[in-house]
Amino acid sequence: MNARIALIAALTALATAAGARAANTSAPAASTAASYTSGQAYAGRFAFIHNCAECHGATLGGHFGPALAGPHSNVPWQTPLAVYTYMTQQMPVGNAGGLPQTQYLAIEAFIMEMNGRRAGTRPLTLAAIKADKLQLDGSK
Ligand code: HEC
Repeated sequence: MNARIALIAALTALATAAGARAANTSAPAASTAASYTSGQAYAGRFAFIHNCAECHGATLGGHFGPALAGPHSNVPWQTPLAVYTYMTQQMPVGNAGGLPQTQYLAIEAFIMEMNGRRAGTRPLTLAAIKADKLQLDGSK
């Protein structure tokens, strides 16, 4: 190997290492996963029963409205933001967008819980919902 080739090889190795470091520091998906508290989901369960269950069923299985959890639902594979945006703009039918934001956030937490997401220590916020690029059920 002459000096010139050795230099190119060394520079390439350096560039690759730098690239790998950059890739590692660019926000891994896990760190953007939105968290909710179990208290929030509990409050959401009550708000859901009061405002949504007559159409979607108390266990989200669907009734007059579609299921919001389980294999026959469109909700688990959407992003948390897509579901949140839809429900805050369209739901509940007859009072679209009419609930306070704290209740919508609590209901979103409840829907996440019912779709298999685990409760955490940080409460669910709109910013956290926006940053979360996973599916609502937590898969990628
Ligand atoms: C009076 C009946 C009714 C009530 C009350 C109601 N919904 Fe709905 N909801 C529907 C119907 C019907 C659809 C389907 C709309 C469509 O396909 O155009 C729907 C759709 C949805 C969807 C989209 C589901 C999908 O497959 O993407 C979500 C999320 C949702 N509702 C959440 C809620 C939440 C949360 C509440 C309570 C705050 C609520 N709904 C209250 C009837 C209702």
